[in-house]
Amino acid sequence: MRATVDPERACRLINHGPTVLVSAAHAGRRNLMAAAWSMPVEFAPPRIAVVIDRKTYTRELIAATGMLALCVPCRAQADLVWTVGSVSGHDPELHDTDKFLRYGIGWFDGPALGLPCVEGCVAWMEARVIAEPHTEAAYDTFFVEVVSAQADDRVFADGRWSFRDDNTELHTLHHLGAGVFAVPSRTVAAGLLPVRDA
Ligand SMILES: Cc1cc2nc3c(=O)[nH]c(=O)nc-3n(C[C@H](O)[C@H](O)[C@H](O)COP(=O)(O)O)c2cc1C
Repeated sequence: MRATVDPERACRLINHGPTVLVSAAHAGRRNLMAAAWSMPVEFAPPRIAVVIDRKTYTRELIAATGMLALCVPCRAQADLVWTVGSVSGHDPELHDTDKFLRYGIGWFDGPALGLPCVEGCVAWMEARVIAEPHTEAAYDTFFVEVVSAQADDRVFADGRWSFRDDNTELHTLHHLGAGVFAVPSRTVAAGLLPVRDA
């Protein structure tokens, strides 16, 4: 089910703009949040930009380690995404626990960096931060280089997403606002326009 993705194809995992989960861990603490704002910026090596607000607890852990994981959640996880994107690890109620335990979120250790990756997602990447202090401070934007990539081969195979009627629960989530998400239930295969005579 979980298959390794060729690094040169890793950027395709978020090319279509899904909401992702960002996770990080440091000194016995771990956390995760939702992020709608991420995008590929380079194919090889695979590099991604992601906006992580300075007020988030996740950012504290990322700043301490220079590492993060990006997981691509699916339709079946809409409540999970909304919840971890609405509650902060700074909340005193999470002092002795974390969002994984509080909400019964399963995880596995990422293969390259051992970061907490969320079970039930349809793609997983671990990445190292490329230090850009000015961009991080001015725009809350982190550039990261992907060091491991995996995907659920029921919905991503041969470097392509395959959103079909028989795997709708695995379709990715695209945030419209206020906890409402669109899913890519219908796809369109484009061709080149015919060239017209001048
Ligand atoms: C669907 C959704 C998308 C979000 N996108 C982003 C984002 O791109 N960047 C960001 O900094 N926060 C984003 N947030 C907000 C964080 O997920 C939220 O502040 C979270 O509670 C931070 O958790 P933490 O403090 O435990 O790290 C989003 C929230 C939701 C629900």
